[in-house]
Amino acid sequence: MQFKGKKGLILGVANDHSIAWAIAKEIMDAGGECGFTHLPDRPDDERQRNRRRVSQLTDQYENAKFLLPMDAQKDDDIRSVFSQTEEKFGKIDFLLHSIAFADREDLARDTIHTSRDGFKLAMDVSVYTLLACAAAAKPILNPGGAIATMTYFGGEKCVPGYNVMGICKAALEAAMRYLAYDLGPQGVRVNALSAGPIRTLAGRAAGVEEMLKLYEYMAPIGRNVSHEEVGRTGAFLLSEASSGVTGEILHVDGGYHAMGSPGRLLDRVKD
Ligand SMILES: NC(=O)c1ccc[n+]([C@@H]2O[C@H](COP(=O)([O-])OP(=O)(O)OC[C@H]3O[C@@H](n4cnc5c(N)ncnc54)[C@H](O)[C@@H]3O)[C@@H](O)[C@H]2O)c1
Repeated sequence: MQFKGKKGLILGVANDHSIAWAIAKEIMDAGGECGFTHLPDRPDDERQRNRRRVSQLTDQYENAKFLLPMDAQKDDDIRSVFSQTEEKFGKIDFLLHSIAFADREDLARDTIHTSRDGFKLAMDVSVYTLLACAAAAKPILNPGGAIATMTYFGGEKCVPGYNVMGICKAALEAAMRYLAYDLGPQGVRVNALSAGPIRTLAGRAAGVEEMLKLYEYMAPIGRNVSHEEVGRTGAFLLSEASSGVTGEILHVDGGYHAMGSPGRLLDRVKD
């Protein structure tokens, strides 16, 4: 993968466990230049913890060119980030959307009891923001550019516990396909990476701990995937190496999605 001379925006780094950080590191190590955003800090948080957690990472990388606050639920924030990106970079070649949120109470509820407000919140942050950011990026995306978003298997099949977020991921995957169509004539590709469970802030809230053992037994490769493996494939989708791939959901889950039975887990059930 080559990113020399390529520039882009990374949305969704919260800390060093974030999938967005794993992808950004691959891109920067391959010569790409990245701009980053962080969730704005509350005005009364004197320690500016959200910014600090991300700047501790970006400060170590010469190719991390800027760090701006952005609440993706706010159109003004999105506008400001993309206009500052244009000022600093001119055109961009890639955009990573690695953002999701649902209220803990709604995630914990059976899907049937999802609240109306919780549904709107989860869909707004986890789905609409892809459309909004793609629209803001459209005028500054170079031909040959790429957008990638992060999804999970719970959008394709019922994964108990993933609940309202599964509905969001199904909508996100549909949004990705429609964006691939809209941006195709401009030479811009749009894809989704469907990762297996990874220990992150969002992952923990969505029940990753329980999934890790299951994947170890059920995934054809017999283990979980690493941050680095997800990072490399995310960078691949944002690089010219994947030219020709668009509207795709690429699974980095050790093959778990390909199973139609519990596989080797059955041996344990038989015991
Ligand atoms: N961890 C996993 O197992 C896993 C598996 C498959 C897919 N994913 C997806 O990967 C993506 C990244 O999650 P992660 O696991 O790296 O966790 P994470 O907590 O590190 O990242 C989630 C990011 O979303 C951001 N975010 C939330 N609300 C926002 C808002 N209003 N405006 C701007 N940013 C906001 C957070 O600041 C954070 O940076 C998510 O879409 C998640 O659903 C995660």
